[in-house]
Amino acid sequence: MEHLTLGLVGVGRIGVMHAENLVALNEELHPQGIDVQLVLTDVAAVHARAVAERLGARFVPCVAELLASGVDGLVVATGTATHPELIRAGVDAGVPVFCEKPVALDVADSLPVLEHIRSGGGTVQIGHQRRFDAGYLRARAALEAGELGWIHSLRAVTCDMAPPPVEFLAASGGLFRDCSVHDFDILRWLTGREIVEVYARGSNNGDPAIGTVGDVDTALAVVTFDDGTVGTVSASRYNGAGHDVRLEIQGSESSLTVGLDERTAMRSAEPGVDFPSGTPHRTFAERFAPAYRAEMIAFVELILGRRPNPCPPEDAVAAARVADAAQESLRTGVPVRVAVDPAGTTR
Ligand SMILES: NC(=O)c1ccc[n+]([C@@H]2O[C@H](COP(=O)([O-])OP(=O)(O)OC[C@H]3O[C@@H](n4cnc5c(N)ncnc54)[C@H](O)[C@@H]3O)[C@@H](O)[C@H]2O)c1
Repeated sequence: MEHLTLGLVGVGRIGVMHAENLVALNEELHPQGIDVQLVLTDVAAVHARAVAERLGARFVPCVAELLASGVDGLVVATGTATHPELIRAGVDAGVPVFCEKPVALDVADSLPVLEHIRSGGGTVQIGHQRRFDAGYLRARAALEAGELGWIHSLRAVTCDMAPPPVEFLAASGGLFRDCSVHDFDILRWLTGREIVEVYARGSNNGDPAIGTVGDVDTALAVVTFDDGTVGTVSASRYNGAGHDVRLEIQGSESSLTVGLDERTAMRSAEPGVDFPSGTPHRTFAERFAPAYRAEMIAFVELILGRRPNPCPPEDAVAAARVADAAQESLRTGVPVRVAVDPAGTTR
């Protein structure tokens, strides 16, 4: 049996889910001869200690102690502003890092992190879990096989039922960087094309506090790809029907929708049509539960050298370039060209 100890920092909304998944992974990993133990920390020590007790994990009071305890990998699930220092700490400790998206609050803050990873020979997987979702994987295979003909339109939707706390939004970088960055990543990954221009508009008809911290609760971006194909990326924090994440891809031969099933948070206006009839997803955790588990398995396999990095930080920063352009377009009200990456990026 191969024994791995994973350290996790940050047991908030998503960190608790990653911790639960890591503990549950052993059911799948033991038959492969892998055993994972978890050690976790959070500045909210009382809460973190309680999570550790509930999950049978070990609690340590700080990141330095966690890294000094000899972990084989580090999972970072703290707020975005802390990602750069924690990625650096993991790389300096010589352990592979899984870090929630995004790498940093914006591209300018991400570039020194990329340089640190490169110069330190670090391995960092970013948490773009949609790359593990069955629907997006199926769509990618269909595009690669040319099943849809040539693509004329892509429409991506990401809607939460309710906003996270305003304190979270104030430190999130804005709706496009926090939320739509998943769509920007998946559009690049699916199409193999770069987004070169963004025109964004947004609105604030919900809690006025969201506007007060400089964010919008709803936004739409028109994106143009490097071959001229157009698409839209739409997001809202106020989708009462449910957590709605979809991608419509229309081509000259056929069309495909990711996220269209019985649980889609949408109802037909057509008389007699009761599809979809299931209970809509309420949260990202529900919608992507299998994908979040799969990305943790991928991280374990990455640590063991059994697979290439499925979400390299360079890709995440390429998506962040699009998000930065969208935030800038939102601010200025005019289309914005996406900054070119002089080093080139991978998919
Ligand atoms: N991939 C996804 O679908 C997805 C979904 C939600 C959030 N996220 C990302 O995950 C990150 C966390 O989001 P969240 O909603 O869980 O936030 P959160 O505020 O609920 O949780 C963050 C936790 O980190 C702790 N923390 C903050 N700084 C720390 C530090 N220096 N050391 C130790 N603990 C620290 C906080 O006490 C808190 O418990 C964000 O970067 C967000 O963008 C990703």
